[in-house]
Amino acid sequence: MSRPSVGDGPDRSVATDRERTGVPSARAPQDGRAVDRTAHPAWLPPEAFRALGARRVLVHGAGLLVDTVFDEVGRACAAHGGRARRTALADDPVDDGVDVILALRDAGPLPAPAARAEATPPPGGDDAPLGDEGFLLTRADDVTVLLADAPAGLLYGLFHLIRLGETAFAADAPPRRHRPALRRRMLDHWDNVAVHPVMGQVERGYAGGSIFWRDGSARRDLARVRAYARLLAACGINAISVNNVNVGAVEARLLTDRLDDVAWIADVLRPYGVRVHLSVSFAAPVLLGGLPTADPRDATVRAWWAGATAQVYARIPDFGGYVVKADSEGQPGPFAYGRDHAEGANLLAGALAPHGGVVHWRAFVYDHRQDWRDRSTDRARAAHDHFAPLDGRFRDNVVLQVKHGPMDFQVREPVSPVIAAMPSTRLAVEFQVTQEYTGQQRHVCYLGPWWSDVLGFRPWGPSGPAVADLTAGGGLVAVSNVGDDPFWTGHPLAQANLYAFGRLAWDPRADPLAVLDEWITMTFPPATTGDPELVRATLHAVMDDSWRTYERYTAPLGVGWMVRPGVHYGPDVDGYEYSPWGTYHFADRDGVGVDRTRATGTGFTGQYPSPWSEVYESPERCPDELLLFFHHVPYGHLLHTGTTVVQHIYDTHFAGTEQARRMRRRWRRLAGVIDPAVHERVAQRLDEQVRCAEEWRDQINTYFFRKSGVPDARGRRIH
Ligand code: GCU
Repeated sequence: MSRPSVGDGPDRSVATDRERTGVPSARAPQDGRAVDRTAHPAWLPPEAFRALGARRVLVHGAGLLVDTVFDEVGRACAAHGGRARRTALADDPVDDGVDVILALRDAGPLPAPAARAEATPPPGGDDAPLGDEGFLLTRADDVTVLLADAPAGLLYGLFHLIRLGETAFAADAPPRRHRPALRRRMLDHWDNVAVHPVMGQVERGYAGGSIFWRDGSARRDLARVRAYARLLAACGINAISVNNVNVGAVEARLLTDRLDDVAWIADVLRPYGVRVHLSVSFAAPVLLGGLPTADPRDATVRAWWAGATAQVYARIPDFGGYVVKADSEGQPGPFAYGRDHAEGANLLAGALAPHGGVVHWRAFVYDHRQDWRDRSTDRARAAHDHFAPLDGRFRDNVVLQVKHGPMDFQVREPVSPVIAAMPSTRLAVEFQVTQEYTGQQRHVCYLGPWWSDVLGFRPWGPSGPAVADLTAGGGLVAVSNVGDDPFWTGHPLAQANLYAFGRLAWDPRADPLAVLDEWITMTFPPATTGDPELVRATLHAVMDDSWRTYERYTAPLGVGWMVRPGVHYGPDVDGYEYSPWGTYHFADRDGVGVDRTRATGTGFTGQYPSPWSEVYESPERCPDELLLFFHHVPYGHLLHTGTTVVQHIYDTHFAGTEQARRMRRRWRRLAGVIDPAVHERVAQRLDEQVRCAEEWRDQINTYFFRKSGVPDARGRRIH
């Protein structure tokens, strides 16, 4: 695509990437500025840029990301009749006749309105530095001014303006500073370069093939990747890892002789402030280096990692670092050499440290070959058992990446006790945007409220810090739900999960329903639909409570699983009951649930600090929604709602299925009101959701009726 023809600033399009950034290009991209227009625009349709694009906009500053800002502004103005101008030099402060100024503070004398804005004292005394990614926004004398200290701040500020729409230009507003709460906001792609015989191209992917890899190498259609980077920047994500945590033989080589592929992706993401990370195999010195060992104490192993890492940085100077899944589900790790995970992680951290990189070391370590007869082993305990004793032993550039729950991304779990147990370790919490256990992007399941609960959880009770505070030094990571599907995420409404993840990583205290509302406004701009109020009301009705709806018709009261083994979709109550995976519900004729108490069970409750340790220990105090995670109780056990466990199971399964039907009915009202392709795709998926919910309802209810012999108090049909 050619550069927008609007604007009268200096034409910088001739500058090469190297001139702009000092970073060499991996391979000259055919058209590095092109954005794929065939994929669904998601939350960046041209109409979302109307308020900004209809105005006279001045961009002040230089650098790769400022070029991106100017490109965006230029495109918006070309579409909506405004005017984009650019100043970059100290002697060129154009400031006449502008409605909006986006300026880097160190780019020479600021245009007059921006200089005035800078001199205005901040309300509430917030004069803390804006940092690398923050920005200041104000409006006075009919000019909206956005200031940043670094180019990324300008980019995030631009997308903030887009979100605000006309509000950004409506009334005077005092200067307000915006900064991300978490430094690294990262997506892990579980993408395989070579198609895996069981997992396919994208492990747990429900949106087609990989956007990065095809036929064993990096794809050439960089426009799609660029469009992705743009979407990520617009919701605040600043890092991705580009390959699966289960590192296969082909993927291992991305670190060495296949590094060009990674460098190429890094080039495409860089203009949007997204850094590339790589999942590596702990056994790389053996697999790739031909060494006899990968032992962290071996000097040749350390030298190998140092050398390989230096090569990576020579090629990709802003490379983010490594992601490692070690001693987990068959991946190699330090246990093979009798070393612990601090030694393993520090080995890679040592190689990365001279270059400023980090290692994301996953805490998802457990015995996946458990004997189901063994009641003493509890998978929920594993991460804490392995990692809590290592607190304080990790190097500063190790980020311990902890799944948010102690098990594995179920629809309901308590918060992992590891998060409170490691005050001297940098922690990142890991979410799963890809809906492995939450409907696989065939069911509507908006996960924002769930993540918000997790981020707001306070392990030491109401006066202590929240999960979001405890992870500020490490960040938030999620498994991406994106593929080469035209809607990006298979289910068009699953785009909202990706958007919400980015927004909550920026501001964990944001109201998830307000974030959803933002997503609705951006994705379905009022001017593009036949009936904006109907669209908004319908999307809220379908999505607001959809996570709880999914919970209602699937595994009850925090017990988890009950899914079909392997694929993890649809009901199979005993599918995992006699398996080696450590995921059991222990239902018998008298009751159901896992006894994780200190008094009579696995002792897992003891991994929490007070007050939760006592709350979870007690079947009377334990929150209903987690009862079966912590306790094995009789079917007649009374919940806080006053209902018995078995009656609750019946009631929620009937109610959840009815809600799925209602969602489908509501959605039908949008026929002819929104883009027919989106409407049709969602309608098809809602048919499947209703079918699957009915199957869940009937299998779960029948199972518990047959086990317990207790009839439904309301006499509904159970098989
Ligand atoms: C789940 C998932 C796997 C994945 C693993 C992980 O168990 O089913 O496909 O590899 O999580 O997080 O590493």
